[in-house]
Amino acid sequence: MDDPLIPETAGRARPYIIVVGNEKGGTGKSTTAMHLIVALLQMGYRVGSIDLDARQSTLTRYLANRQAYAEASGHALQTPTHRHVARIAAKTKAEAETQERAKLRQAFQDLMDCNFVVVDTPGSDTYLSHLAHENADTLVTPLNDSFLDIDMLARIDRERREVSAPSPYSQMVWENNNRRVMAGRPPVDWIVMRNRLTHIEARNKREIAGLMDQLAHRIGFRVAPGFGERVIFRELFLKGLTVLDYSHDNPDLQANPSHDAARGEIRNLLEAIGLVQTEPAQTETVTG
Ligand SMILES: Nc1ncnc2c1ncn2[C@@H]1O[C@H](COP(=O)(O)OP(=O)(O)O)[C@@H](O)[C@H]1O
Ligand SMILES: [Mg+2]
Repeated sequence: MDDPLIPETAGRARPYIIVVGNEKGGTGKSTTAMHLIVALLQMGYRVGSIDLDARQSTLTRYLANRQAYAEASGHALQTPTHRHVARIAAKTKAEAETQERAKLRQAFQDLMDCNFVVVDTPGSDTYLSHLAHENADTLVTPLNDSFLDIDMLARIDRERREVSAPSPYSQMVWENNNRRVMAGRPPVDWIVMRNRLTHIEARNKREIAGLMDQLAHRIGFRVAPGFGERVIFRELFLKGLTVLDYSHDNPDLQANPSHDAARGEIRNLLEAIGLVQTEPAQTETVTG
């Protein structure tokens, strides 16, 4: 492992890397990644994106849909510079890893002029995903709002309603942090957000919120306000649109209360990450 994964920038600012990760599928990683990308583009940043999910390729398809929609409808839509890094089949694991690392390094190299690079990862434990996690400045982990998903962060003693041990995923983030600190770099800013919040039974909800607080303290992440369960998030994928693409002359994206609420949720996430100032600020600035 000679070259650093993120190429040296010789005094220039390197892109700020936001990784969206969780080793479980269907928790909202790609949806979150896409909304972060469009939010950053709308703030005027140069944005790069990397899709490491070879199997689903949701982010890559989402962006292709966006391109197709823009061309067919005539609505100008901003897009990031995108790279899809797939897994490689080689004779040995070591050979595959060497080639995968080189491809990911090349993707970062291509995006060095960006202010931000948003990386979407697969819902499984892969070498490429590990590399991305190791190099994240901010890690955003969306979780579905259930005990099943909390299990992704830690083993929970259901009887005693307590955290009994960190999960392999939390352990991985923790070990990455140790390596970073040893190398004189700041630890990753880990943000966990609950996704697809519904009006589940109040007691259940309180219990999950309580466990999240315990976990945040034990494992070292911050909890961001999440996204509600909203049909709009599912519907926009085919057109490659996000709730942030609202425009008064686009019949596909007219204002409605559910979209407004969804936009508020995206804004809350941006605030939690530190990409926009907390209300009632007048202007939007970046801290990363
Ligand atoms: N807040 C939400 N409300 C409704 N549907 C959602 C929400 N977040 C994600 N989804 C839907 O759930 C499915 C999985 O989301 P996705 O972002 O692809 O997850 P992942 O990348 O973690 O596998 C998609 O069909 C997506 O549209
Ligand atoms: Mg995905």
